[in-house]
Amino acid sequence: MDPLNPALRGVLVATLMLLVGVPPTFRLVVFPALERRGIDTTRANDTVLTVVGTALIGAAFTATAIAIGDVRPTDPGSFAAWASTTQPGMAWTGLVAVASMLGALTVTRYLRPRSVPRDHWLAAATVGALAMLVAFCATRYSVAIESSAVALIVKVGHMTGAGLWVGGLVVLAALPTLLPRSLDADDEPARVALAVVRRFSVVAVAGVTVAFATGVVIAAWHVPTPTALATTPYGLLLSAKVGLVLIAAAIGGFNRLIVHERIDRSVRETTDRTVLPGLLTIADPIVATDAVPTITRSVRVELAILLVATALSVVLTTAMTPSYELLGPTVAASGGVFGGVLLGFANLLKLGAVGIALTGSLALGYEVGKLGTAR
Ligand code: HEM
Repeated sequence: MDPLNPALRGVLVATLMLLVGVPPTFRLVVFPALERRGIDTTRANDTVLTVVGTALIGAAFTATAIAIGDVRPTDPGSFAAWASTTQPGMAWTGLVAVASMLGALTVTRYLRPRSVPRDHWLAAATVGALAMLVAFCATRYSVAIESSAVALIVKVGHMTGAGLWVGGLVVLAALPTLLPRSLDADDEPARVALAVVRRFSVVAVAGVTVAFATGVVIAAWHVPTPTALATTPYGLLLSAKVGLVLIAAAIGGFNRLIVHERIDRSVRETTDRTVLPGLLTIADPIVATDAVPTITRSVRVELAILLVATALSVVLTTAMTPSYELLGPTVAASGGVFGGVLLGFANLLKLGAVGIALTGSLALGYEVGKLGTAR
């Protein structure tokens, strides 16, 4: 393998997560929150065009660099033959073709905005990003189970959930650059920040739930025993990654439950400090002028942790041997009893994935309900 491969793959994964998460966050979170208050969207428009355009160029460029590193073509003809006849070659062709079409649409939207309405462009960008993600995942998915279709769907689901979360956080982290410079009236930036966090929570809960549930399913395929989590290199790296994503999720929950409520109470000028009756009360409200800096600071910490977790994920996929491959001979030699443990642990993890999906659905219902009452 080309030594540059994991680094390039990391950039490709990051650009794909941006493409999957940024357009829906603007479509469902940022633009509605601004437009409902009659706030100018010029800066938000410019930002989303720049981010999507740059991510498309980055994705096409890194995918091509990885392909050239893997194939080492001697002439353009051999590269063309690889691109049109082999499975990884066709996946590369599909990814670059979609990136080029979306790139052309993005340039048209930039030059002649009236000919490509914003919401149509964002919808096309979302669908195109998912198509690029499928092409990317088709080059490497889990081979631990017999059905490659199931393995591919779970991997695409995992990265879609991760992309919605990480891509959305990137948008929130850039909140000050999305608001008009003239927006300094009283507590208006704080009200926008509250609306953005409330709307984003629906997207984030959906993304986190899918990422966690599918991640646990892949882990059930790759890590056969509890001890493998603590003794094999793959298991240790996976444990470190899970630790990081749990910390990030806890920060996200803190932002939503505590930071959001402290700003909300300041804006509404209420003295009630109860968040969950009998369970949770909040400290002093955050003054409206500090709202946007406080939220973006906290979101940036959450994002930084997730970027490290993403880097670990890329190392897991490209440079590590899944524990089940290392332990294969041991499993075979140890016979039925070990086999029973193996089955038991995998089933426990899959049960955990169902639990995550149920809890996530409840949290999603709560967020949608909150959004409805906040309108
Ligand atoms: C309990 C939570 C999670 C578990 C158990 C988990 C587990 C895994 C495993 C085992 C893989 C390797 C898949 C393969 O080799 O095909 C993987 C890939 C990946 N995970 Fe997670 N994951 C979790 C959460 C997350 C989160 C929250 C993110 C978002 C930052 C994330 C981002 C990724 C990415 C981007 C990949 C693909 C890397 C690549 O293909 O190069 N995961 N995950």
